[in-house]
Amino acid sequence: MKKILLVPGFMVMLFVTTAVINPAHAQAKKKPAAKAAAGGKASAADIAAGKELISKSDCLACHKIDTKLVGPAYIDVAKKYPATPANYAKLAKKVIDGGAGVWGQIPMSPHASLSMADAKKMVSYILSLK
Ligand code: HEC
Repeated sequence: MKKILLVPGFMVMLFVTTAVINPAHAQAKKKPAAKAAAGGKASAADIAAGKELISKSDCLACHKIDTKLVGPAYIDVAKKYPATPANYAKLAKKVIDGGAGVWGQIPMSPHASLSMADAKKMVSYILSLK
């Protein structure tokens, strides 16, 4: 019985130790996201991450970079909105909630499973296309 309890106990210790040893590493990774969330200008890393996230999501089924498809061309979105923290937040919320009325009556589908931080990275990439 004792042996059976020792194994998970050891696993927990190992996990805690790794978490304690690694905080510098974890923080370095989190920094760009934290910066965007705090309302700073997007970094090159955020923009690159946003491009990657868009390629893995369903965005490109409705959007192309330079031609209108179901949704507006990303270049047109970039021309309409300056790359400011306020616009990252506003458009990230629109991507998550979905909706229509800005570019026409066809609605964008909601993306409820996207985090605000990831949606902001996607938008920072779109608004960097000028
Ligand atoms: C089902 C098709 C569809 C998908 C999928 C889609 N969009 Fe859209 N998107 C649209 C349409 C249509 C509009 C125009 C909405 C409007 O007129 O308000 C739009 C508008 C936008 C806008 C501009 C919003 C505004 O208010 O000006 C952004 C930014 C955007 N989409 C990003 C994305 C991203 C990022 C994804 C992937 C996570 C995505 N879209 C997926 C159809 C789509």
